Amino acid sequence: MKDIQPNGTGGSGATDQIDDRWNDKYPYLGTEPIPLEPYISREYFELERDRIFRNVWLNVGRIEQIPNPGDYFVHELPVCHTSVVVVRGKEGKVHAFHNMCSHRGNKVVWDNGGSCQNFTCKFHGWSYGLDGTLKFVPDEESFFGLQKEKLGLTPIAVDTWAGFIFIHLDPNPAETLNEYLAEVVPGLEGYPFSEASATRFCWRTEIKANWKVAQDAFQEGYHFPVRHKESAASAFTSETNPYCHFLSLDVYKRHRRTSSYGNLGYRPTAVEGLAHEFGSSVVVDRGLSMEDLPAGVNPTRRQDWSIDVFWIFPNFSVFPTNGTYLTHHFWPITEDRTIWETHTYFPRAKDAGQRFSQEYSKVLLRDILMEDGTTLEHMQEVLASGAKTHMQLQHQEICVRHAYKVVEDYVGHYDGS
Ligand code: FES
Repeated sequence: MKDIQPNGTGGSGATDQIDDRWNDKYPYLGTEPIPLEPYISREYFELERDRIFRNVWLNVGRIEQIPNPGDYFVHELPVCHTSVVVVRGKEGKVHAFHNMCSHRGNKVVWDNGGSCQNFTCKFHGWSYGLDGTLKFVPDEESFFGLQKEKLGLTPIAVDTWAGFIFIHLDPNPAETLNEYLAEVVPGLEGYPFSEASATRFCWRTEIKANWKVAQDAFQEGYHFPVRHKESAASAFTSETNPYCHFLSLDVYKRHRRTSSYGNLGYRPTAVEGLAHEFGSSVVVDRGLSMEDLPAGVNPTRRQDWSIDVFWIFPNFSVFPTNGTYLTHHFWPITEDRTIWETHTYFPRAKDAGQRFSQEYSKVLLRDILMEDGTTLEHMQEVLASGAKTHMQLQHQEICVRHAYKVVEDYVGHYDGS
């Protein structure tokens, strides 16, 4: 069995001093306690619905989900009271539409995805092409001057970055996807997302928690030594970094990124070590050398590194390591209900050993996520009591503070706009 190393290419094991007084780097974010109202208020949630989710680019999938003309998937979007069909057209272009018939408003596509030549409504049979145009109306002669050319599926703006499909409910958004992502994604340019996306696993659940409560749990490592004591804490903490302080961190206008510590002295269990021998997990080298990583992934080039996180406002995050990655999405339903989706991506397994390793990594991640999920629901249960009105945040929770500020910048609840 080979020695297990964190995602760095090996090293001395020494943990250099981390410059981790993050609030000193971003004094404009302040240090005061943060109000809890945005995490429980229905009024605040309605503002988020209108001012954020209807007005920004949202990631809904990857191009590998629709490789061929006619391939489609449906993405339910309860926060915007709609359902979205994403389809690859005959010419290869990706289209997105509201999943709503022009006749009497039925949902046109009822399954989660597949491949077809056209979309036919199951109520009265109106039929639409892959480009959304209305192609056929049964008993058309009985209608009153239908202008079929104006009755196609309602388009939604769609664009891609590095194979990630984003939509914007405004068909003519004020800024392009590239403009929206410009502050953060250059650091990911060159990451092998396509190769790493050959195999995808999904964990999906509805949790009884506000979407920001859920997302915030992944924006700090402070909880790791306590909440993940039994599962993964020893891989991300050590005597020299007992509270999982970040190695590096940047916050931008809307987005942010972090680099997390990896314990060079970590020793896995016997079965975990067997899985690592063949491939991957959250904490073990997967083959890309440090030199192969984009400059923005582990930008400090520290050896005691485990994983980076790129937070794409409002609800999407990408966790690149060194050859695989995972993503989180937190899709609001109400002020205290959220659909939580986690996808893990791996290169195509070359043999049974690599597949075993991927399966092990998937299950290890599930165990960690379940520890988080339980905490989130317990937290939401008592937030509404009003017993506490604010939360206390420290340096290592600055991403929670930044996320609060960006949301509030859009919502404008406290400045009365
Ligand atoms: Fe779709 Fe009637 S509602 S065909």
